[in-house]
Amino acid sequence: MKVTRVVAGAAVAAAVLVSLNATGAPAAPVASVAPVAAAGQDAAVQGGNADTLRALAKRAGLKIGTAVDMSALNNDATYKDRVAAEFNSVTAENVMKWSEIEPTRGVLNFGPADQLVAFAKANGQSVRGHTLLWHSQLPGWLTEGVASGDIDSAELRQLLKQHVFDVAGHFRGKIYQWDVANEVIDDNGQLRDTIWLQKLGPGYIADVFRWAHQADPKAKLYINDYNVEGLNAKADAYYELVKQLKADRVPIHGFGMQGHLGVQFGFDGRALQNVQRFEALGLETSFTEVDVRMLMPADNPKLHAQANGYSILLRACLLAKKCTSFTVWGFTDKYSWVPGFFTGQGAANLLDENFGQKPAYQAVKETLALAG
Ligand code: XIL
Repeated sequence: MKVTRVVAGAAVAAAVLVSLNATGAPAAPVASVAPVAAAGQDAAVQGGNADTLRALAKRAGLKIGTAVDMSALNNDATYKDRVAAEFNSVTAENVMKWSEIEPTRGVLNFGPADQLVAFAKANGQSVRGHTLLWHSQLPGWLTEGVASGDIDSAELRQLLKQHVFDVAGHFRGKIYQWDVANEVIDDNGQLRDTIWLQKLGPGYIADVFRWAHQADPKAKLYINDYNVEGLNAKADAYYELVKQLKADRVPIHGFGMQGHLGVQFGFDGRALQNVQRFEALGLETSFTEVDVRMLMPADNPKLHAQANGYSILLRACLLAKKCTSFTVWGFTDKYSWVPGFFTGQGAANLLDENFGQKPAYQAVKETLALAG
């Protein structure tokens, strides 16, 4: 099927047709974003507001980030102000995923993601890209096409390659770290059984890294997953996979540990050892989606256990040599994916639903202050 590729920015005033050039980097228009309070900017932070997470993280040489929910950013002034003030890195919680970028085959919607990139620029923030290859949040036309047999293996590989060039190419030069491959290993340490593995074979992982590197040669390219924050079968499998990719000269630069923890499970105290072994392979590391959920209702012991969970990961990052960013998956319980995905659980973020500081926020702040 021949498809004319168009870019349709939802937040962009006029419908725009952009033909991708060889580098896949169209001069896409950027939605206008009102600059937020100057207090959010590093320079201003150094003046009067040295107390924010981003000011403390900067002193410690660390990027501190949050996932950003675009509808909250556009509709909640307090949320927007806190994103700008507290963080020097942002990740799109959803708007860079395939289902959001290309809900209709061949029609690329970069509007919301462009808006986030513009917001970050206006506020002196770096952008983490999330994510080029995942088995989840794929567009319906793709999964249905594969299921019905309309899209065969050769076409699927071509679609994946085009997607990586489209997206990494569009943001070329604007993303400091890309989650290139997300959640490709299961909890038993086997390659995850997905359409990618089934239709393309295990070589798809090396392929996406090579394509991403061609599309955006300066971005640090990450492999990223959950349940890999300590020493276990899944983390071991990643260690072996990364070792092999390095031996095969695949351009992979970073190991991302999502950090979705729960107080009811306890925490693996060996996060630092795990980080160090990946760094010994020549990779940088990051914590990419940290939140620490609990069975509801929250109470003081759980909130203090939660603070400990955040601290364990942040300390591992600060004690390691090449841990470059620490990103939380949302920062207020007002907007969190947790209650919708984990029945009966919640309160996973640093601030409560009224943006009040929880013990976890204080712990993160104190840990950063001690490091600086
Ligand atoms: C989640 C988002 O937070 C939700 O809004 C969305 O409905 C589902 O995805 N691991 C990842 C993230 O890599 O992309 C997921 O984000 C959370 C788990």
